[in-house]
Amino acid sequence: RIAGPCGLVLFGVTGDLATKKIMPAIYDLASRGLLPPGFSLVGFARRDWDDQDFSRIVHDAVREHARTEFREEVWAQLSDGLRFVSGEFSDDQAFARLRRTIEELDERRGTGGNHVFYLSIPPRYFGDVVGQLKANGLAEDSGSAWRRLVVEKPFGHDLASARELNEVLEGVFPAEAVFRIDHYLGKETVQNILTTRFANEMFEPIWNSRYVDHVQITMAEDGGIGGRAGYYDGIGAARDVIQNHLLQLLALVAMEEPTSFSAESLRVEKQKVLESVSLPRRLDLAAARGQYAAGWAGGEKVAGFLEEDGVRKTSTTESYAALRLDVDTRRWAGVPFYLRTGKRLGRRVTEVAVTFKRAPHLPFGPHATEELTHNALVIRVQPDEGMTLRFGSKVPGTALEIRDVTMDFAYGSSFAEASPEAYERLILDVLLGEPPLFPRQREVELSWQILDPLIAHWADRGRPEQYPSGGWGPAGADALLQRDGRAWRRP
Ligand code: BG6
Repeated sequence: RIAGPCGLVLFGVTGDLATKKIMPAIYDLASRGLLPPGFSLVGFARRDWDDQDFSRIVHDAVREHARTEFREEVWAQLSDGLRFVSGEFSDDQAFARLRRTIEELDERRGTGGNHVFYLSIPPRYFGDVVGQLKANGLAEDSGSAWRRLVVEKPFGHDLASARELNEVLEGVFPAEAVFRIDHYLGKETVQNILTTRFANEMFEPIWNSRYVDHVQITMAEDGGIGGRAGYYDGIGAARDVIQNHLLQLLALVAMEEPTSFSAESLRVEKQKVLESVSLPRRLDLAAARGQYAAGWAGGEKVAGFLEEDGVRKTSTTESYAALRLDVDTRRWAGVPFYLRTGKRLGRRVTEVAVTFKRAPHLPFGPHATEELTHNALVIRVQPDEGMTLRFGSKVPGTALEIRDVTMDFAYGSSFAEASPEAYERLILDVLLGEPPLFPRQREVELSWQILDPLIAHWADRGRPEQYPSGGWGPAGADALLQRDGRAWRRP
């Protein structure tokens, strides 16, 4: 579907996310013909720029990061709708200028009063911005014209702050006009979790505690925190990605079948899972955390977490976190969900591995199955998008020997179509007013409710364990699974 007449106002145009993801995604949407011809993009920031400067910034971001080929005719159409408003978030005059800019665009480009306000800025400014939008009459729908708000995480740093933040947002915009971005939900392979489960008959019958031994959800990154110490130090891995991306993945793997793919049905089912997730009682045995030490990554010498620019030397922020969660439902009783994430690990990979129980009886004699492990379905979210099924097979020969083999589905060889970037899909959904891929506030709150006790437990436990850069995390994480008689996969 193509978006109807509308425009987008971007707060935080100088940030990394805007340059690497948002602006290129907008160009890619235009290039695929999914934006209305009069689409307008207004940048708002403190910089003393004019429209031309802004146009150059967008141009460079597009040239460097867009997925689709650069075409002059697409750029000409898009750049004609670019405007820049310079000002502080507390500056009334600047917001009056923004209002006039929007009115002018409605008139000249036919945006029809339909505007998205995209907050790619630190949450401490949310209050100022939405307050200003309200004061200038930009926050309410009027007649058939709609206004929507897009917010980027962090949605608070715990349950209480998430609630406060939401009061600020929903005090101005109605709940259904607020779109919270969790870019993992925009990934093709993440959406495919539900289609694989519910479009087929062969997975769902065994998708439960009778057949599943445990589930491992891994989000490993090879990079360090880069230039993001200001954001990351004090936040850490659990808040940065477990609270959102990994718990959303867990919800998709564990949820019941929704009655439809409407936003309401999906959110209700995800919410039910999150309501039934719990941490084991012994928090010291339920989780592990670590900080990367100096070492080597991709053949280069890299600094340890504590030596990174901007990180406090006494920081106890974790760059790795692993934990066990239980889903207290009939379907999942007794099936642990192990989640782990870390920076500076051996390889960049995100995957969900559903590991099955061993066959209850193996009639092959004592040595035939020595090399047989557990059956598993591995959903490879990235970078090597696809799925692998692991099962035992007879090794050719006269002896009876059974070994693990894999059956592979790779997006690259099964589909001619390339997966769109997550931001493309999500921005288009906002413009179309399609909410299924956006978590609602209740899910955000439930996620904090799950993690808050663990984060509080860690708060007075001093420095996290150090782990070598380029490895697979701290020894404590291995011990976490060993205690349950299991081991992490090496993706
Ligand atoms: C972000 C986190 O949400 O996701 C980053 O804040 C992380 O710390 C990033 O690097 C990873 O996203 P992706 O899509 O590259 O897996």
